[in-house]
Amino acid sequence: MACTLIIFGASGDLTSRKLIPAMYQLFRKSRLPKGFRVVGVSRTPLTDEAWRARLRGTTETFTGKDFHAAIWEAFAPAIHYFAGDVTHPEMFGRLDAHLSALENGPADRVFYLSTSPVFYETIAEGLGPFVQNTDVARRVVVEKPFGTNLSTAQHLNDVLHRFFREEQIFRIDHYLGKETAQNVMVFRFANAIFEPLWNRNYIADVQITANEETLVGHRASYYNQAGVLRDMFQNHLMQLLCLVAMEPPVQFDADAIRDEKVKVLRAVRPMETEKDILSNTLRGRYDEDSLDPNVATYAAVRLHIDNWRWAGVPFYLRSGKAMSCRTTQIVLHFHCPPHRIFPTPDPFSPNRLLIQIQPAEGIQIHFQSKVPETDMRIYQKSLQYQFDVEGKRLPDAYQRLLLDALHGDASLFARSDEVEAAWKIIDPIQTAWDTMAEPPFPYLRGSWGPDVSDRWIQLLGGKWFNSCPVLCSQGDDTSAL
Ligand code: BG6
Repeated sequence: MACTLIIFGASGDLTSRKLIPAMYQLFRKSRLPKGFRVVGVSRTPLTDEAWRARLRGTTETFTGKDFHAAIWEAFAPAIHYFAGDVTHPEMFGRLDAHLSALENGPADRVFYLSTSPVFYETIAEGLGPFVQNTDVARRVVVEKPFGTNLSTAQHLNDVLHRFFREEQIFRIDHYLGKETAQNVMVFRFANAIFEPLWNRNYIADVQITANEETLVGHRASYYNQAGVLRDMFQNHLMQLLCLVAMEPPVQFDADAIRDEKVKVLRAVRPMETEKDILSNTLRGRYDEDSLDPNVATYAAVRLHIDNWRWAGVPFYLRSGKAMSCRTTQIVLHFHCPPHRIFPTPDPFSPNRLLIQIQPAEGIQIHFQSKVPETDMRIYQKSLQYQFDVEGKRLPDAYQRLLLDALHGDASLFARSDEVEAAWKIIDPIQTAWDTMAEPPFPYLRGSWGPDVSDRWIQLLGGKWFNSCPVLCSQGDDTSAL
C-alpha cells in the first residue's frame, strides 16, 4: 500500500536532524514501502524545490558518509511541502485535498506531530474529520513531551481518543527505537540461561543510568519548565525500567508487551509522604546562568517494585546533564556468594551484568577469576559482547520507529495507560520538589553528580557503578596483578 508521512512542524529541528535523515536512510536501504512520500507542513511559504534544497544540506550533515548525491536525487522527488497554519481549521481540508491529489489513489497516511505540544490538541481536532471511517490506515505519531504531568497527559489522551482509536495512536519514545534497548527483550526472552537468575533470589540491586555530557544550553527555556524528571525519567528511564523488570509477554505483539510494561509501572511503590521523597530521591543542578536556581539537571531515585519477582530489590535510576561522560547503562548487581572460601579483596565486587545501551553498545558479565601465578588470589574479569552490525554504526532510533509507524506496528510505542502510569510515579516527586525550600545540590560540570550522591546510595545500602564506557575490560580489576 502506498503511504504518506505528513510532518507537522516541518521547519523544526527534529525534522531536519532526525526525521528526514531517517527516511533517507530507510530509502537507501530499500526499506520504505512502494509509493511512499513525505509531506512537510509548516507556516512559511516554500516550494517543494526550496524545501528539498534545505533538506539536502541538513541530511548530508546528519548522515555523513552514508550520504550519496545519486541516492538523494532518487529520494528527493518523494518529498513535498505544504504551507499551512494549523490554527486555521480550514487548512485541514485543503491539506486533505492536496494529499489526495499527490497520492492519486488509495494510500495510508501517518501524521507526525512534531510541532510545539501546545498545538497537539488543535491538530488532532483539525484532522478529526479526515481520519475516521476510511478504508485506508490513518495514524498519528505524537512526539514527546506527552503532557507535563498526569492530568495534562490524561487530557491529551482524552482529546486524541475523541478522534483516533488507541491503535491509531503512536506515542514516541525514541529510547525504545534504540537497538540495544530492544535487545534487552531478546537477551532476556530468547535465552534460557539468564532468566532463571532474573529475580530477587539472585539480584541485589538494579541501576539504570542515563548520563549526558551535553549542557542544557539553548534549550534552557524548555528545560526550566521540564527539569530532568520530566525530560528523562517519565519517559526514557521508565521505559528502560519496564524492559528490565517486566514479565515475559506471551507473544511479541504490541498489546502483550505493553500489558506487561503497564503491570511493572503499576507495581512501583508510590511515594506518598514527603519523608518517602526525601529519602528516596536526590536532585542536583550544575551551574549555568540561563538555568532556574530550582531546576534539577540531575536526579537519582530509588524505586521498589512490589511484586513477587522484585520484592526487596531496589532499582536506582539516575540521569544528569553536564556529566563526566555520556553513558546509558543498565547494571544488575548479583548477590555475593553465600560463603567465601578464597581470600577475597575487600570490598568484594559482586557479579555484575552490564548492559551498555549507548555508546559502545554491548553487554558485559563481570565475574571473579584466579590471578595467574598466585596461590588463590582472585580478581574481577569480564566477558563481553559488542553489539554492532559488522562494524557499522547502529541505525538511529528514528529509522526503526518511523518504519514501524508506517507499517502500523505499535510494539515500540507507549500506550495511553503506560504513559499515565509513568506520570503517576513521577508526579508526586516533582510536586514535592517544586515546593521544597532547599535548592538542588550543586555539582561540578564533568562530575558524576553531587558529591552527596555517593553517600546517599551508601546509606540506602548500595554503591554506584561509575564507569565510563570503554568496551574492553571495563569491569576488570587489575589491582591484584
Ligand atoms: C531527549 C531529551 O528526549 O533525549 C534530551 O529531551 C536528551 O534532553 C535526549 O538529551 C537524550 O537522547 P539520546 O538518544 O541522545 O540519549
